[in-house]
Amino acid sequence: MEWGPPHCLTPGSFPSCDLILLLGLGAGQSLTATPPRPVLPPSKPHQGTKVWRAVRAVKASLVQGPAETPGEQLFHWSSIPHGRLPGLRVLLLSGCSWVAVSALCTSSCPLLRTLDVQWVEGLKDAQMRDLLSPPTDNRPGQLDNRSKLRNVEDLRLAGLDITDTSLRLIIHYMPLLSKLDLSYCNHVTDQSVNILTAAGTTTRDSLTDINLSVCNRVTDQSLTYFKRCGSICHIDLRYCKQVTKEGCDQFIAEMSVSVQFELIEEKLLQKIS
Ligand SMILES: *[C@@H]1O[C@H](CO)[C@@H](O)[C@H](O)[C@H]1NC(C)=O
Ligand SMILES: *[C@@H]1O[C@H](CO)[C@@H](O)[C@H](O)[C@H]1NC(C)=O
Repeated sequence: MEWGPPHCLTPGSFPSCDLILLLGLGAGQSLTATPPRPVLPPSKPHQGTKVWRAVRAVKASLVQGPAETPGEQLFHWSSIPHGRLPGLRVLLLSGCSWVAVSALCTSSCPLLRTLDVQWVEGLKDAQMRDLLSPPTDNRPGQLDNRSKLRNVEDLRLAGLDITDTSLRLIIHYMPLLSKLDLSYCNHVTDQSVNILTAAGTTTRDSLTDINLSVCNRVTDQSLTYFKRCGSICHIDLRYCKQVTKEGCDQFIAEMSVSVQFELIEEKLLQKIS
């Protein structure tokens, strides 16, 4: 086990959150759950201090938790004293096992804004349903039957075996979702994009960033669906074999009536602000 700065955070780039918990277990990589050195953005020292303390609490729980197979570490939500991280807003669990992530299916799950469950082993539609459904362990008298993930704005699902069933749940339970990463999701198709941008869905208006890179079943047809999205700013279709330069050019031309887009890289579309 090695403690080192996670690659996802560089000094001065702390996300604006009360507390942050970092847990990164890349496939075949060493554990990188660690506090980055608190190099604080000058304007927000207080925030940085909180970040540091939270990460220390987590580090302690990791060390105490029983290690499973080598290179695999379970995160025991319950090992964090109850109510200790209610302000947690960013949770990065990329590459962890579903067993670890399933700890979020309880009423003590904080109201996250960012959830990264990329490449989580065993996370499919059924588990997605467990994650999104309102928790069932409410204490008597506790009437909150809403999803604990209702405040999520940034959801990273790269590399998961999920289908449109999960996307429908996401639309239903995450009305504030603005950034969605579905890269490397093999089951994502044009129909998925159709669902995300259909009339009456919240995602149609809330989505600003979508990542569909390396989704090989996505074609130029998806770009015509994105024209319905009122807030879309970034569309990553890199390495989608069935998306063409002509399709991107046509999207830019047709959108230009109202919004200017440009290709900042092949198949990477960005709104010109
Ligand atoms: C959730 O609770 C509200 C009132 O607290 C109620 O109106 C609603 O029907 C409930 N929803 C479900 C799915 O139980
Ligand atoms: C989209 O996802 C890929 C792979 O997961 C990643 O490398 C890329 O940086 C992401 N694109 C954006 C714009 O964040």
